[in-house]
Amino acid sequence: MHGLTTVILAAGEGKRMRSRQPKVLHELCGRPLISYSLRLARMVGDRIVLVVGPNADGVRAVAGDGVGIVEQRERLGTGHAVLQARPQCEAVVGPILVLPSDVPLLSVETIERLVGHHATTGAAATLLTAIVDRPHGYGRVLRQGGRVKRIVEDRDATDDEKKVSEINTSVYCFDSRRLWPALERVRPENDQGEYYLTDAIGLLAKAGGRIEAIAVEDPEEALGVNDRRQLAALAAIQRRRILDRHMLAGVTIMDPATTYIDDTVTIGPDTVIYPNVIIDVASEIGGDCVIGAGCQIRATRLGDRVSLKPYCVLTESVIDNGAVMGPFCHLRPKSHVGENAEIGNFIELKKAKVGRRTKAHHVGYLGDVTIGDGANIGAGTVFVNYDGAAKHQTVVGDGAFVGSNTSIVAPLTIGEGAYVAAGSVITKDVPADALAVERAPQVVKEGWAARRREKRAAKPKE
Ligand code: UD1
Ligand code: CA
Repeated sequence: MHGLTTVILAAGEGKRMRSRQPKVLHELCGRPLISYSLRLARMVGDRIVLVVGPNADGVRAVAGDGVGIVEQRERLGTGHAVLQARPQCEAVVGPILVLPSDVPLLSVETIERLVGHHATTGAAATLLTAIVDRPHGYGRVLRQGGRVKRIVEDRDATDDEKKVSEINTSVYCFDSRRLWPALERVRPENDQGEYYLTDAIGLLAKAGGRIEAIAVEDPEEALGVNDRRQLAALAAIQRRRILDRHMLAGVTIMDPATTYIDDTVTIGPDTVIYPNVIIDVASEIGGDCVIGAGCQIRATRLGDRVSLKPYCVLTESVIDNGAVMGPFCHLRPKSHVGENAEIGNFIELKKAKVGRRTKAHHVGYLGDVTIGDGANIGAGTVFVNYDGAAKHQTVVGDGAFVGSNTSIVAPLTIGEGAYVAAGSVITKDVPADALAVERAPQVVKEGWAARRREKRAAKPKE
């Protein structure tokens, strides 16, 4: 909305998280809590002022450019926090939207409804409330003759007040001209000895200001994160929303109950995801892929028609169109599997580039290696990249054939179309189209076994 300034409160310590890191940096489905409020503020308004606590470098980093940041040095409460934003809001004549940083499931539609309602009624303040079954822990909205009179915090409420099921979501729209004078009159007269933003509502109402309130249609939107149980409960809701979004966009998810997909992940249509899959950290999955049971995909890009058989673990890698992987393969960071390549079972890749149509089907370690197109890496091949002190590179040319149970001791190069015989320990370069064999010649002694049997039979029994 044009001319809307949003103040986001993110200076709270989050004591109930019992954590060394600020609450707002805890992740919900792969994104820090604070990023949910920031995204909402960006979508509904123009300017953002973020109130942070001391030592909040991590929070500042998430906010990035274009966000005004003020520090609340002493955490004296939500009202005090909003006051810290005043110098940055001096020029604001329009409405000020206040968002908490620990209520991440709010929708854009709800906030737009709130701001729209505030604009049409010309209220001094408009609250976003929720009618919930279990209001415990939240501030209650107290009305008289239908009109909002004040908000009482759970810990300050009488038994009767605690029965009120309409709660404060901590989302408000204020008339900026009336907000600051009211905040200055807030006193820390409550159980916590804090300056409560909620008291500004009571003060405005007392002074004859009109307080409006609209309730969220879906009370789930109002859920806040104060402790890790709530974090898990909200993550379950958000996870389901993410899965619904993908399913509506054409992704088959066989068992939503056991599928974990971060908010930052993209997936193309007609991809099928089997049970017990985790996809996180901004992975990108193409269309028509099959993600087998138990796969874990992190910060990895899959093209189209990629097939992951069960239990592949992929990290910070790229897999091109049509590749077939697993079961049980492990891609460590900076691996790149080319189009239609086949990486089979019990293969580990690390900083490995595998060309198009290249096959490595059974058991092996491909570390620090660049393999060309159409090569074949036999069962049990190990690229011996580490000499105990440093890592070394291997290059394998297009169409090369590496026989089974081979060790390739880096650094070296195997030329295009070359053959390496099975069981070799290769320590020197192999030229293109050559054959390299490194093993003792086989000795055959005709009739040896039969003679041995005869000898033993002739021996007298003891
Ligand atoms: C607050 C509301 C409560 C409401 C609930 C909804 C007050 C007094 N209470 O309670 O009515 O039902 O949210 O979730 O406002 N913060 C600061 N500086 C501070 C203290 C808090 O920036 O000094 C920030 C926190 O980071 C958080 C927000 O303000 O984002 C709310 O603070 P929190 O302590 O979580 O308040 P609640 O007890 O949840
Ligand atoms: Ca809270």
